Amino acid sequence: MENFVFENSTKAYFGKHCVGQYLPELLSHYGKTVMVAYGGGSIKRTGIYDEIMAILTEAEKDVVEFSGIMANPTYAKVLEGAKIAKEQGVDLILAVGGGSVMDCCKAVSLAAVYDGDVWTDFWAKAGTIAVKPIPLGIVMTVSGTGSEMNGGAVITNEDVKVKTGRDYPALNAKFALLDPLYTYTVPKLQMISGAFDSFTHMMETYFSAPDVDNVSDSINEVRNIRRAIENPEDYEARSNLVWLSTMAENRILKLGKKGDFQGHILEHSLGAFTDCNHGCGLAVLLPVYYRHIKSAGAEKFARFASEVWGISPEGKTTAELANDGVEALASFVKEIGLPTTLRELGMTDDQKDWLPKIAAGCVASPGSYKHLDGDEILAIFEEAW
Ligand code: NZQ
Ligand code: ZN
Repeated sequence: MENFVFENSTKAYFGKHCVGQYLPELLSHYGKTVMVAYGGGSIKRTGIYDEIMAILTEAEKDVVEFSGIMANPTYAKVLEGAKIAKEQGVDLILAVGGGSVMDCCKAVSLAAVYDGDVWTDFWAKAGTIAVKPIPLGIVMTVSGTGSEMNGGAVITNEDVKVKTGRDYPALNAKFALLDPLYTYTVPKLQMISGAFDSFTHMMETYFSAPDVDNVSDSINEVRNIRRAIENPEDYEARSNLVWLSTMAENRILKLGKKGDFQGHILEHSLGAFTDCNHGCGLAVLLPVYYRHIKSAGAEKFARFASEVWGISPEGKTTAELANDGVEALASFVKEIGLPTTLRELGMTDDQKDWLPKIAAGCVASPGSYKHLDGDEILAIFEEAW
């Protein structure tokens, strides 16, 4: 196992009705002005908005709203939120939504107190946060990204066509309320793509050095997606998906492992050009990427085949078993109804010449089993077409 230092400052409250149970007390620790931030309006349709507003009214808070946070939040949206937070003297940002709302709010919490340009200083390159961001609380309504319990914020700068994320411990939320019942209304495709995102986060740790016995590898061999597809109100499955989302990306699984961020690097560049759904983009790219690296990580892909997919190793070479593992993943993507090609993802013929630009926006991940050069990255996008 590699050496590590572990820190996670987010306090997670998990389970049915946890918002009503804990939010009132949590609010008492912060000042009077609360910014309630949310996306395109699903929280109004589901009643979550009314529930939270009632709690804020009861707590005698002054509420400032910041709405319309889009999937794949843009830097322009971050600046809009920061302006509101600064002008209104916000004491607490309450992000109510999924990864997009949470990520945007983390960047807002910093941009509102920082004098310089946060894109240039913290997203275009890694920076050091020497100011105190506005405290952030999270009410999660859709699972998948793990943003609820990390300092990660993935932002798209539309001007330069770059989507990129950084994980700053200072941006971890103070608290995260995770009620699996809130996720029941999530549209089916989003539920599946979110779960696939968590699954990818696990695989990216699983398929990375060192391949010695590691507690993280055993935790990674888990899935609940099929059960949730069969019955979206299967509480065991939905609650497992929520906690899996958190666990997969709250740094714990990654401890002692290098991690391979290549799949995400490819998807983020794709997302910067196409604004595609994150989990769907991963579903298209991961199997193709793994075909390229399966020989370099044959032992682990073979273990993946037998431990995760239950494929019998009998009579097979390691290379054959590794191949079966990758193809089982590709079949699983098909089975759960996610797109398998860039065309299925919505790209059109006239966009095919974007592929070299999308590929040029990617770097090689140091944790990958194989160092990919520019030609091989482009080949992956072309094979995914
Ligand atoms: O905008 P509204 O109307 O709220 O609708 C949302 C949105 O359309 C809807 N939704 C959310 N909760 C719902 C619901 N619909 C019905 N009922 C509910 N309870 O779901 C849609 C998707 O929401 P979004 O927040 O965009 O999804 P997700 O959680 O997958 O977040 C994706 C973003 O997170 C980034 C991705 O790149 C992408 O930008 N990531 C963040 C990470 C992190 N911070 O650690 C790691 C990830 O790898 C990822 O890159
Ligand atoms: Zn992800």
